[in-house]
Amino acid sequence: MENIRNFTIIAHVDHGKSTLADRLLEVTGTVEKRKMKAQVLDSMELERERGITIKMQPVRMLYREKYILNLIDTPGHIDFSYEVSRALRAVEGSILLIDATQGVQAQTITTLEMAKNLNLTIIPVVSKIDSPLARTLEVKKEIALLLKCDENDVLGVSGKTGEGVENLLEEIVKKIPSPQARRSPDELPGENQRQNPLRSLIFDFQYSTHRGVEVYVRIMSGTVKKGDELLFKVSGKKFTALEVGIFTPEEKAKDSLSAGEIGYIVTGIKEPGVASVGDTVATLQDTLPPIKGYLNPQPVVWSSVYPESQDDFELLKQSLAKLKLSDSSLSFEEESSGILGRGYRCGFLGMLHLEIITERLKREFNLSIIISSPTIQYQVLLKGGKTEEIYTPSAFPEDYKIEKVFEPWAAIKLITPSRFLGPLMTIIFEHEGVVGASENFGEDRVSVSVEMPLRELMRNFFDKVKSQTSGFASLSYHLLNLREAEVVKLEILVAGDPIPAFTKIVSKKNIQFEGEASVEKLYRILPRQMFVIKIQAQAMGRIISSRTLSAFKKDVTQHMYGGDITRKMKLREKQKKGKLKMKSLGTVNIPQDVFLKMVKSE
Ligand code: GTP
Repeated sequence: MENIRNFTIIAHVDHGKSTLADRLLEVTGTVEKRKMKAQVLDSMELERERGITIKMQPVRMLYREKYILNLIDTPGHIDFSYEVSRALRAVEGSILLIDATQGVQAQTITTLEMAKNLNLTIIPVVSKIDSPLARTLEVKKEIALLLKCDENDVLGVSGKTGEGVENLLEEIVKKIPSPQARRSPDELPGENQRQNPLRSLIFDFQYSTHRGVEVYVRIMSGTVKKGDELLFKVSGKKFTALEVGIFTPEEKAKDSLSAGEIGYIVTGIKEPGVASVGDTVATLQDTLPPIKGYLNPQPVVWSSVYPESQDDFELLKQSLAKLKLSDSSLSFEEESSGILGRGYRCGFLGMLHLEIITERLKREFNLSIIISSPTIQYQVLLKGGKTEEIYTPSAFPEDYKIEKVFEPWAAIKLITPSRFLGPLMTIIFEHEGVVGASENFGEDRVSVSVEMPLRELMRNFFDKVKSQTSGFASLSYHLLNLREAEVVKLEILVAGDPIPAFTKIVSKKNIQFEGEASVEKLYRILPRQMFVIKIQAQAMGRIISSRTLSAFKKDVTQHMYGGDITRKMKLREKQKKGKLKMKSLGTVNIPQDVFLKMVKSE
């Protein structure tokens, strides 16, 4: 066990983590050079295309024929910070990787703080030192300031040229403690000892049709072998280990896995919702509580997904169930909306998670889908004392029934070059943000703490910050408590009927503006109908904005040349009656692309 080193790489998106990991694989001879494809560890097609690490793929390397180095790749995006926290719990050390051309970014600090709380050994490294744009020295100083260490202790590497990679491997072996020496604050008594009963932490899992759920684990204590009878501590599900093994990076079966090791267990389980990141796998006799820190994945953003054609509803249902097998953080329930038919209300960890899932539905399952604009969850205290959790705008109670509404807030950390501070303040203010402490950070940069309703954060705040600062600012957030909210339901009526898919929850302050904007937008994109219709916005029991869309006139007598005037009049009468009938039935034809345009955010 003393020769094992378990570590992660903490890095911001694009700071060169995958490139460096690939170089580590190459230098240790784990993957032969001619077999190296760029970025071996990012296996999902979508990830590769977008260049972001979504799911971590662990790898075991043998260094100097003696040391076993286990690297867990961690996703670099806020949406997946819980997964990152579990990966950190599974290791003894982290490489803190900072791009020499970019400097420290907000999300990196958040992850670094998590690592420090777990007492992990941090190896600070500056990446891309070969780049002509590298400001290596300056960035080293920035890191030294952050870690309160000497700038000479910050290493430099280039994943591209391989410079500094050998040295980094040496440092990993020297500095990161072996699992035996692990000293985490919440360490269980007797953990890490092979003779103790098995306890292992799930930091990821995947699903395949043949083998069912396969959990990626760090063995905290004891040993697991093929054929062992095991138990998921949180979900309570029992299973037999069909195979255990390690990542080379391909999976390779082994006789057993023991304390300190990182590997996989094949469970054969084929139901969704059983395995989840952070759960503990133990023996059936185990009486201890699960390993500390388990959290149920909490959706942060909600959105409705409808098949473009109702014929695809079954396919959508099956596809979501399949995705859930390998992603327990996805949640969904069936709903129906008059015009769009049957679909699902889905919960996601954040906007990137939403994007990934909807892209996968399109690509992997060939589905054409309609996605409603994302909303968050509200807690509504009704008059009479009942409390409801609302995550579908159209289900939001009428204003007069409400005593109070509560909504989640977020604590945001923003790092930006100081010259953008002014314009950023305007955006923060527009999004109801409350500015807290700010401090100078490295050369000519400022870090600002802001608190903001999650509703406002999800209203493209991140995109606006990015575009205002040409991508120079970075942001990270975590959820705070629920706070009282001044929000109401805004409904859009077409010919007197509310269209549920257009319903929004908006800030009371913005209600007039939002109402007018929605009516105006629909007025522009809705095709004319055979009769006059009203487009209205309604909130708090009042119509707050209204426009009238004039009728599309079809000349029913056009095909008649000359002839009897009474016949023409008869036809016109018939047309009038027809229109009246249509109107009474309320058959306004809202084409699908109008829905799409309306639900898309500004
Ligand atoms: P995510 O997977 O999105 O978290 O990104 P990452 O941190 O894995 O970054 P990745 O390795 O994909 O590199 C991002 C970009 O930086 C790519 O365009 C790389 O070619 C470039 N890059 C990575 N390492 C180096 C380096 O050492 N030198 C130079 N010049 N460019 C590099």
